[in-house]
Parts: sequence; structure tokens; C-alpha cells
Amino acid sequence: MNDLLTVDDVFAGYGDIAILEGVSFRVGQGEAVALLGRNGVGKSTLISTLMGLTDVRSGTVRYRGEDIGKWPSHVRARRGLGLVSQEREIFPSLSVEENLVVATRAGSWTLERIYDLFPRLYERRRNMGNQLSGGEQQMLAIGRALIGNPAVLLLDEPFEGLAPIIVDGLVDAFRRLHQEGELGIVLVEQHAALALELTERATVLDRGRVSWSGDSRDLLAHPEQLSALIGLAEAAA
Ligand SMILES: Nc1ncnc2c1ncn2[C@@H]1O[C@H](COP(=O)(O)OP(=O)(O)O)[C@@H](O)[C@H]1O
Ligand SMILES: [Mg+2]
Repeated sequence: MNDLLTVDDVFAGYGDIAILEGVSFRVGQGEAVALLGRNGVGKSTLISTLMGLTDVRSGTVRYRGEDIGKWPSHVRARRGLGLVSQEREIFPSLSVEENLVVATRAGSWTLERIYDLFPRLYERRRNMGNQLSGGEQQMLAIGRALIGNPAVLLLDEPFEGLAPIIVDGLVDAFRRLHQEGELGIVLVEQHAALALELTERATVLDRGRVSWSGDSRDLLAHPEQLSALIGLAEAAA
């Protein structure tokens, strides 16, 4: 498979603080990869590294085969990396529609297509960002990333802190996006079983290193291995 993103033996962190120690990772077009691991192991740091927001000491990050290590994050975004960060980062004093419009880049994702994926955002299009529920904020955060017409979508715990019925709706949207087959998707998720069901491959981090990498199905079929990798509570969640 042609890789969209390829991370090879990356050491990265914040200033002098090393967090990632020799991480390798990849995602191809049409493929969804789960990024798993306990709290604090470096999942968000890896996502930040893909976006050019950490200090990389060694190793390479490639996009469509090209070394993008020197690309600032706004260039990465413009060239096709779409981020939905853990903080969601929507504009509170802009309406839903304005939040989408300011993030628009040319491509197949239009306002109409976002509203088709998330009809709730159409209903709420004139509401301000700060008037939305948590679930609506997350739909808007995903919509904002998509309307930038990325090739890779990076989702950092998109279901976190949301009621189960809201998560179900977002999971349906995720499946739809994945089935369309255009995007490479990286899904960071605490609920390992859910993430493994939604993806083809998985990478597990432990204290800044890759502790397991392989087919999601294989890990899903071996719960004892999963709980050894990420902890019993997380594996059962
Ligand atoms: N901006 C930062 N500056 C310094 N250390 C950070 C920063 N962000 C995260 N860390 C540290 O990096 C480690 C990994 O954090 P993170 O990547 O957020 O883990 P995860 O997403 O897997 O929970 C943690 O020890 C955390 O305290
Ligand atoms: Mg995190």
C-alpha cells in the first residue's frame, strides 16, 4: 500500500523533554489506524509530531514519500493533514457555519457535504460555537477538519467525555468516512475495543515507544494480550 504518512524511528518531545523514543508508524490511503495506549504514553505527542508541533530530535516524518520534517504546521494542514485535537479548538464567537467557512479549502468536501454527514450541524448552523453541546462541538471540530479537504484525518480521542448515544452517532459518521475510502485516518482512542473494531491496523504506545503494532483484528481476538498492553480497565472499556 502507498503510505500517506510514514514515521520512521522518531525521537521527539517538548524542548529538552524527550517523550517519543524511536517511534515508527504509518498510515495509507483509505486505511484507518488505531493509536492506543494508557494515559500519558505519548499518543497526543505523536499526533502533534505529525502536525509539526513538537521538537523532533531524530528520525523522519514523510508525507507521500517526501520528508516533511521542516514543514511548519500550517503548511502540513494546507497540504493535506487534518487535525481534530483533543481540545476541539472551535471558535466560540463564530457561528457553526462561519467556523466551517473559515476552514474551507478547495476539494470535494463542501458545506453541503458536511451538513449531509452531520445534519445536526445544519440545524445549528446559525448558533455560536459556545452555544453547542459537547457532541455538537465534536461534530463541528470534525466538520472543520474535513472541509479543509485533508488526505489524512488525525482524530485525537474524538469520543472522549460524550454520552453513549452521542458516541454512537459519531461512530456512524466515522464508519461512513472510512467506507468512502478517500482518507487515511488515525484514531487515538481510550476505548481499545471500539478503536480496534473501527480500524484495520493498530499501534500501541508505552512510555514513548511502540509496544505492539499489527492487525486490529488480531489484537481484538486476544483480549489477554490487549489487557497486558494497555491495562485491564482500558481493554474492557
Ligand atoms: N506541552 C508539553 N510540554 C511538556 N510535556 C508535555 C507537553 N504535553 C504533554 N507532555 C507530556 O508528554 C507525555 C505524553 O503526553 P501525551 O502525548 O499527551 O500522552 P497521551 O496523549 O498518550 O495521554 C506526558 O508525560 C505529558 O505530561
Ligand atoms: Mg492525549
